Amino acid sequence: MKRFLVIGHKAPTAGEFALNDLPGGAGRLDVLCRSVNSCFFLSHDLRRDVECFLVLLGEPNPPKTIMISGEDVRHLNPDERSAGSLIKKALNIPCGNKFTESTKGFYVRNGGLKELLEEYEFAVLDENGTDIRDISPMPDNYILSDHMNFTEEEELLIKDLPKISAGPKVLHADHTIITILNESDRRE
Ligand SMILES: C[S@@+](CC[C@H](N)C(=O)[O-])C[C@H]1O[C@@H](n2cnc3c(N)ncnc32)[C@H](O)[C@@H]1O
Repeated sequence: MKRFLVIGHKAPTAGEFALNDLPGGAGRLDVLCRSVNSCFFLSHDLRRDVECFLVLLGEPNPPKTIMISGEDVRHLNPDERSAGSLIKKALNIPCGNKFTESTKGFYVRNGGLKELLEEYEFAVLDENGTDIRDISPMPDNYILSDHMNFTEEEELLIKDLPKISAGPKVLHADHTIITILNESDRRE
């Protein structure tokens, strides 16, 4: 299983946002929706061996985490609005500290980065890290930020984790995920 955790620093934690304003009123949720698509979509197929965690830190109830399981997911289509709509449904159900399924393969709970770090071993995707091509075996689990830098509090939590670069240029989060999955595909 491969896991990608993307931190959405302004992404909403309630389902009241408008699906036609994902980049604006929804706190750059478009970045997270594209990251979901990068985790799962192949041409006419889905990556069933990937899980995607979206850590949402916007108002009104941060932090919340949405988990999407490639093995179980249904109703996800390769456009941002489709992922946005399933995230909206997840944010509209009551949630506690354990994952509750909102639609097939989409789960939501309270909590964020700290909880996930206690559950899995992650590497941090960072353009200044060690080149992925110099690392063997590849890590299974990766953390990325959205369009913003990691906060000081996040930096403290991840300071001892391995930092891995997907290449010499700063990429968008969704493109970084594709690059890492491509490297993994080649090795498999
Ligand atoms: C758009 S970048 C973040 C923008 C950046 N912090 C800034 O404001 O200049 C989104 C995320 O993609 C990942 N990323 C981008 N380029 C990368 C690279 N070459 N290698 C590894 N990770 C990369 C990092 O996790 C980064 O936080």
